[in-house]
Amino acid sequence: MDPLKNYLVAPSLLSADFAHIGKAIRLIEESGGDWVHLDVMDGCFVPNITFGPKMVSDIRPLTKLPLDVHLMIEHPDRIIPEFAKAGADHITFHVENTIHVHRIISQIREFGAKAGVSIVPSTPVAAISELLAFVDVILVMTVNPGFGGQELIPECLEKVRLLDQLRRERGYAYVISVDGGVNRGTAEAVREAGTDVLISGSSFFAAEDPALEVMLFKGQKIV
Ligand code: DX5
Ligand code: ZN
Repeated sequence: MDPLKNYLVAPSLLSADFAHIGKAIRLIEESGGDWVHLDVMDGCFVPNITFGPKMVSDIRPLTKLPLDVHLMIEHPDRIIPEFAKAGADHITFHVENTIHVHRIISQIREFGAKAGVSIVPSTPVAAISELLAFVDVILVMTVNPGFGGQELIPECLEKVRLLDQLRRERGYAYVISVDGGVNRGTAEAVREAGTDVLISGSSFFAAEDPALEVMLFKGQKIV
């Protein structure tokens, strides 16, 4: 683990009170969050439903923080333009239900957003080996997608280790983010595996002091 590395924390709005999203954005900013993570679920790819591009366009004027959109939906290509126009800075989609992944990465880039791919716990790194040179972000899910508040599956961190090793060996430029079950008990193992970004929903929003939580996730010394 690199003690000088500047880890980023991306609180996930999935665990925020949807009736008070503005307040949640302010809390993320005041607590030192780096990105705002938005989980888009369609009730098909995952057994839960959240929100669409309107949430992104409503949030856009409230913050300068990057809006990190995580699409857990069927046919992401059909709605990616709407998310890009709404102001998403990063758009990440899943490879498991997508054939023309390379085309969708280009589609996202054409809109000026950073392109990310995500893999669920049962998907190996081999499934994205042909994409490593093309993507900006790789989101490794450490729980099965759909819900906040689940326990991190430690075996998934081996994939983070491999992705970190591959980029060091081959000079790839992707950012690695870890999503699911990140809390003060698991954050050190997540950092040690080689991630850059720690996404956190329930542990951030349930914290008594979210700013302290962000510092703990980043591995900063508390004085
Ligand atoms: C789950 C989502 C996550 C979720 C993480 O499908 O992709 O971003 O918000 O929640 P926690 O941090 O509670 O595991
Ligand atoms: Zn997510």
